[in-house]
Amino acid sequence: MGIYRTPLRYPGGKQKIWPFIAEILAANDLVGGQYVEAYAGGAGVAMELLLGGLVSRVHLNDSCPAVFSFWHTVLNAPEELCRKISRASLTIEEWRRQREILRRPLEADRLELGFATFYLNRCNRSGILTAGVIGGLAQGGNWKMDARFPRNELIRRVEAIADKRCAIKIRNWDAERFLKDYVQKLPQNTLIYCDPPYYNKAERLYMNHYTAADHARIASVIQNKVVHPWIVSYDNAMPVAVCYENRRTFLYTLQYNAARPHRGEELFFISDGLNLPTRSSIPAIDLALRKEGIVGQLHLSI
Ligand SMILES: C[S@@+](CC[C@H](N)C(=O)[O-])C[C@H]1O[C@@H](n2cnc3c(N)ncnc32)[C@H](O)[C@@H]1O
Repeated sequence: MGIYRTPLRYPGGKQKIWPFIAEILAANDLVGGQYVEAYAGGAGVAMELLLGGLVSRVHLNDSCPAVFSFWHTVLNAPEELCRKISRASLTIEEWRRQREILRRPLEADRLELGFATFYLNRCNRSGILTAGVIGGLAQGGNWKMDARFPRNELIRRVEAIADKRCAIKIRNWDAERFLKDYVQKLPQNTLIYCDPPYYNKAERLYMNHYTAADHARIASVIQNKVVHPWIVSYDNAMPVAVCYENRRTFLYTLQYNAARPHRGEELFFISDGLNLPTRSSIPAIDLALRKEGIVGQLHLSI
């Protein structure tokens, strides 16, 4: 479990694998260097690494205007954001109002859109911006819309990140442009992490997602244009594995203990020059690392 925690709950969020990314930094003499997330979403790993002092700067990018506006607000108007969090009315009427803001992003300013993103992320089922509210419109069940809205803790998280704002850069670009034009200029001791939208069912999870051709195109950009060490993660989908068939790959199994327990398999692809740690403090990844091949079991609860 992370110590600092991103304020966002993110569908497919990778925060829980941050110890593994920290182990990769250590195995490659990259501790104290810089770190990039080209598909930031909740940026859970980035926040753990930066606030934990393991990297000196993080560079985030997300093409979704809603997600970008949230991060932009954390960095540029944290006091106003925290005031809104502390006063937020957790009612269906307010939820509908915030949903309207997200539906008409061009009519909102950054603070409004950033807060609406945060509000719906915390009040909707599984943090999905386009999903229904926790507890339904009738708010009749055991879980209600405030179940994931611990105001003081969320304000603490925003403030902790805002304190480090000088070390955080955020862009709202398409990942291809970001990788080609922005990342190229970063120093060599920078680790690039790409966690693109899932191959399967992404349209249900994110406002921005990729077609099969986009996945193949970005795989080519990452493998041919990125000069820094990189890691890519995905859901387990054969067409993606084919795109990275010449790279080291490993598969691990996530055990999600959410309301509906289920297992999800995820893949990592690793750039050629990058040393993998020989051991991991995450048992499933440890198993995967020690098996040639490489298949592991990662049991996490969300
Ligand atoms: C799998 S999520 C990232 C989750 C993140 N690693 C976390 O732990 O929260 C993918 C993200 O990519 C963003 N995205 C989708 N298409 C993109 C593109 N073409 N360029 C940049 N970001 C994109 C989505 O808005 C979404 O936030």
